[in-house]
Amino acid sequence: MAEDMQKLHLTICRGPSCGVMGSDALVAWCADLNAAGLPVSHEICGCTGNCTEAPVIELDGRYVTEVSPEKLTEILIERGIS
Ligand code: FES
Repeated sequence: MAEDMQKLHLTICRGPSCGVMGSDALVAWCADLNAAGLPVSHEICGCTGNCTEAPVIELDGRYVTEVSPEKLTEILIERGIS
């Protein structure tokens, strides 16, 4: 059940470079999974200073770079959230 699952909370950069490189798709991925009842949430932040490796998220206090919905799905599976 979703109540027993680990939660995944992402901070997604929506700065200019990340926006160009696909951060909107990451926001949509989070929203879709949240709407499906999975414990996935997100917030938006401005540029993290890692623009050359956009799009960037922060997860567990660390930056994750060159993120795609596929990479987020891998993280989800690694954490047993699916
Ligand atoms: S715009 Fe995202 S790291 Fe700079």
